[in-house]
Amino acid sequence: MSLYKKFFQFTLFIACLSLLTSCVPDNEIPFEEEEIPGSENMLPSDVIFPANNPYTEAKFTLGRSLFWDPVLSGQKDIACATCHHPSFGYADGRALSSGVNGSGLGPNRVGGDVIRRNAPSILNVAFNGMDENGNYNPRFAPMFWDNRADGLEEQALLPILSHDEMRGVAIAEADIIDTVVNRLSNIDEYLRLFEAAFGNQQVNEQRIAQALATFQRTIIANNSPFDEYMNGNEAALSPQEIQGMNTFIDVGCADCHSGSMFSDFELHTLSVPDHPLVSDDGATGNFDFRTPSLRNLQFTAPYMHNGGFNNLREVLEFYDDISRGNGNSQNPNVNDNQIAQEARQLNLNNGEINEIIQFLNALNDDDFDRTIPNDVPSGLNVGGLD
Ligand code: HEC
Ligand code: HEC
Repeated sequence: MSLYKKFFQFTLFIACLSLLTSCVPDNEIPFEEEEIPGSENMLPSDVIFPANNPYTEAKFTLGRSLFWDPVLSGQKDIACATCHHPSFGYADGRALSSGVNGSGLGPNRVGGDVIRRNAPSILNVAFNGMDENGNYNPRFAPMFWDNRADGLEEQALLPILSHDEMRGVAIAEADIIDTVVNRLSNIDEYLRLFEAAFGNQQVNEQRIAQALATFQRTIIANNSPFDEYMNGNEAALSPQEIQGMNTFIDVGCADCHSGSMFSDFELHTLSVPDHPLVSDDGATGNFDFRTPSLRNLQFTAPYMHNGGFNNLREVLEFYDDISRGNGNSQNPNVNDNQIAQEARQLNLNNGEINEIIQFLNALNDDDFDRTIPNDVPSGLNVGGLD
């Protein structure tokens, strides 16, 4: 049996479980290797756009300008791109993100309001919510470490409303969207862009959200060595990486990091230690956070909801600690028995840690759009950076 067939079997097994149908035993998989549909494990090349916000190039162009333009922030000093920047894999390279009143980029940013969480990458955010069968509904795709927003359209306005991220003190939450709409309505180039995207010059919050969502759905990095391998190019992964893939499955990582995005998009309690500045009790007060995708980790350290771990070895050593003695909390606010069963049962030793890291490194695709606009329609600093 080939090794990538093994990976396919695993996802098939999960699919069987969820459909409650009978599953095919390990050695009787009814597929010849060449018949394995590649799309089962690869990310697709096409993105599904929601029926109520289909892709158009004009919406993309508007969304890209808005994404880079600090005109959306209260004090015109910070843009979406400040914290989701291509130089840091569309995250910011910081443990906790840094908001209004700051200057500089990434780890060098100083003075900004402290955000209580790590900025996730928006690479492949178009595929959030994808299940083991490759199905997802972009309109309700889960967003944020606690899954509190449904879909990119709902998510897009929340950073603008947030005091620490983009709004600042000068403008009240109830007024910021009107303020932004007024500002955009007074910039000729934006009026042209809204007209091209939506048929007339009206600026409103729904259109802003739709354009930002459209742009973000194009920020894709889905051609890693792993994807090439799943597409039939057996030489794309080294024997060590294939070994790591099987170890990743065998020790139980794929119980939660499943499907093409390597996430079940569910909430789990792991007991990641609190950041010294913030105790974050997660989505339901249970220190539970969404399983993140494991794609493109090369660009997005530090890791976890609070950036508590600087590299993959620290993440794996954390899993080793919590799985020893069947549950060993690393956060004093979390009891051992609160930790997700699947995490307590992981079976790691040092050799396995090294193998798994090799496999995770095969999930990077550095061929993504890193272009930065030369200017933004407001004439302010592109990305809020001077
Ligand atoms: C100050 C830094 C900062 C700014 C500015 C910012 N973000 Fe974020 N972004 C974050 C952080 C931190 C999170 C995670 C918050 C959480 O999970 O509670 C996040 C989460 C997200 C997510 C969810 C990704 C996922 O997989 O769940 C998306 C999408 C996103 N931001 C898009 C945007 C857009 C669009 C803008 C501009 C309108 C923006 N962000 C502005 C820091 C920032
Ligand atoms: C019980 C489900 C579960 C299991 C099993 C699991 N993880 Fe995770 N993983 C999560 C959750 C949830 C987080 C985020 C936790 C947080 O931020 O507090 C996470 C975070 C991570 C991160 C950080 C990614 C980022 O962008 O910050 C990596 C890397 C990772 N896991 C790898 C693994 C590996 C390798 C294994 C197997 C040894 C594994 N995980 C097993 C649920 C799981």
